[in-house]
Amino acid sequence: MRTLAVFHLKGGVGKTTTAVNIAALAAQDNIRTLLWDLDPQAGASWILAADTLQKQNKLWQGDCPVGSVVVTTQWPKLDVLPADLSLRKLQQTVASKADAERQMRNWLDQLSEIYGLIVIDCPPSLTPQMEGVLRAVDRIMVPVQPSLLSIRAYDDIRQHCSWSKNKQWLPFVSMIDKRKPGHVRWVQDEAKRYAELLPVVVAQSASAERMLEQRVPVVYSQPEVPLARNFAALWRAMKPRLSLT
Ligand SMILES: Nc1ncnc2c1ncn2[C@@H]1O[C@H](COP(=O)(O)OP(=O)(O)OP(=O)(O)O)[C@@H](O)[C@H]1O
Ligand SMILES: [Mg+2]
Repeated sequence: MRTLAVFHLKGGVGKTTTAVNIAALAAQDNIRTLLWDLDPQAGASWILAADTLQKQNKLWQGDCPVGSVVVTTQWPKLDVLPADLSLRKLQQTVASKADAERQMRNWLDQLSEIYGLIVIDCPPSLTPQMEGVLRAVDRIMVPVQPSLLSIRAYDDIRQHCSWSKNKQWLPFVSMIDKRKPGHVRWVQDEAKRYAELLPVVVAQSASAERMLEQRVPVVYSQPEVPLARNFAALWRAMKPRLSLT
C-alpha cells in the first residue's frame, strides 16, 4: 500500500482536481483506492458525491474507528473518507505535529489491509497538524502553478520539510496557461532548476470547471479531452515512482 498527499501551501493551484482524478485513474487501474479528504472545504468529497456518515473530527477525537467514516462511491474500487466543516477544529483536537503523525500512521496501517493506494487531499496550510500528516505519508504530490507566489511557496515548503527525502516529492507543473508569456518562459527556462519535476504538465482547461458541474472525475466522464489526457500522462509518469506492490 502506498500513501500520497496532494499538498501545496498555495491555494487554488489544482490540488483537489488532481487528487480526485489521480484517485480515479488508480481505481480504474484496478488498484483499490481511498481518497481521504482532509480539507474542511470538502471539495473532493463533494465532487465524488460522498455523503458524510459522521463528522471527521470525531475520528480525530478518537470517538470512532477509521472504518466507520469511509464511504463507497458509485465507481468501482474507489472509496472516500469525506471531509466536513468539523475539520476546522483539527488544531484544537490534535495537540501536536507528533500526535497527528502518530494517529495518521496508525490509521494508514489499518487501512493498508484494504487499499492499494490512499490519496489525501490536503488544505492549503502548513499547520503542525498538517506537517504531521505529511510526515506519515510515502509521497507528496505538489501541483506547482508557474506563477511567482506558487513557486516561492514550493521553495519554502521544501526548505521547511528538511526531514523529507528527495524521492518523496512528486511536484509537477499545474494549470499552465500557454497564452501567458511568464508561464511559458518559466517552463522553458527556469523549470530545469527543479530536476524533481515530473516530466508532464497539466494545462489550463475549461474542462476543470465543467467537472464541478458534472461531479464526475474528468478522466471518467471525458477521457479524450486534453485535461483528462494530461492527468492520464501524470498518472503514468508517477506510477513507477510509487513502487506500488
Ligand atoms: N487545469 C485546470 N485548468 C483550469 N482550471 C482549473 C484546473 N485545475 C483546477 N482548476 C479550477 O481552479 C479552481 C481551483 O482548483 P482546485 O480546487 O483543484 O485547487 P486547490 O489547490 O485544491 O484549491 P484549495 O487550495 O482551495 O484547496 C477550481 O475552480 C478548479 O475547477
Ligand atoms: Mg483543494
